[in-house]
Amino acid sequence: MKNHGIEISNLHKNFHDIQALKGVSFKIADAGLYGLIGPNGAGKTTLLKCVSSLLVPSSGEVCINSDTVSPKNFAVRRKIGFLPEDSGLYEKLSAKEFLHIMAGMHGIPKEERKRKVKDVVDFVGITYPPNKVVKYLSTGQRRLLLFASILLHDPEILILDESLSGLDPINREHITRLMRKLAKDRIVLFSTHILADIWRLCKRIFVLNHGELIVEDHPENILARMSDNSYFITSKTELETIKDYLDNLPNVSVISIQDDKLLFKIEEMVPITEIIKGIMNKFNVESFGPNVPDLDQIFTRMVTAT
Ligand SMILES: Nc1ncnc2c1ncn2[C@@H]1O[C@H](COP(=O)(O)OP(=O)(O)OP(=O)(O)O)[C@@H](O)[C@H]1O
Ligand SMILES: [Mg+2]
Repeated sequence: MKNHGIEISNLHKNFHDIQALKGVSFKIADAGLYGLIGPNGAGKTTLLKCVSSLLVPSSGEVCINSDTVSPKNFAVRRKIGFLPEDSGLYEKLSAKEFLHIMAGMHGIPKEERKRKVKDVVDFVGITYPPNKVVKYLSTGQRRLLLFASILLHDPEILILDESLSGLDPINREHITRLMRKLAKDRIVLFSTHILADIWRLCKRIFVLNHGELIVEDHPENILARMSDNSYFITSKTELETIKDYLDNLPNVSVISIQDDKLLFKIEEMVPITEIIKGIMNKFNVESFGPNVPDLDQIFTRMVTAT
């Protein structure tokens, strides 16, 4: 049976004596957003370029819908839209000229190019004049132009290297919304150093360190694992009342009440779902979750634990 999506098998990539990827394997089958994180030099760009056929692996392979990715496999290349970390723009052209040239390079017939360019410009929300020369575009304007250019050929799979970096919060939110929209019916794999959003955005997170995949999991599992078994609750009920209830449970200890949050810790092996069910039956709980004070701290813990 044909496998749908991306399948990476035992991928190695060496640059002379540098082992940038040391046997990375994972599969992504369903549409959605998938985050790739890891320290500088971990191998993220190398991995994304191998998936997009811009680099040839030293060994191992990447398959898209069971078809091996290679620079010569144009059928599979057409399925991918790759947004590079460093700009792939032609500085002297206008934004519109750039999109028309890219449309030509993707083999879009001349008579369709105008409409196609308009569609992607509208979709990504480019509002600056289309005759503006690329050299004079701001970082945010460039990112939108690049984004538009990788959508011209309707790729099934999007590979985005640092699509959110260097943007102000408004543009970041704008690009995030685009990524979410696109991920409704496509696989979108993106690398980022911006940890704040990925926990709520991604179906799964991949952590690379020194060329190896050290963690692959759902965001909530990573958060729970890294929270040291401590959890928070906010509630309309007087938190002191919930504290009294928890104090009487075995293997549970209340850490503190901070403003509107009650923090508690459970012994390992105690199922958190049972505890939460018990609290919800008795009290009016507004929210609860693993108590993760600092996302950067989680990242540091993940990459220094290996
Ligand atoms: N073309 C190349 N020639 C030689 N070494 C390279 C080349 N490309 C990448 N490397 C090396 O491979 C390793 C992984 O680099 P890569 O760019 O994939 O990391 P990254 O995770 O994307 O880092 P960053 O977060 O800084 O973008 C680094 O040691 C880097 O120096
Ligand atoms: Mg990189």
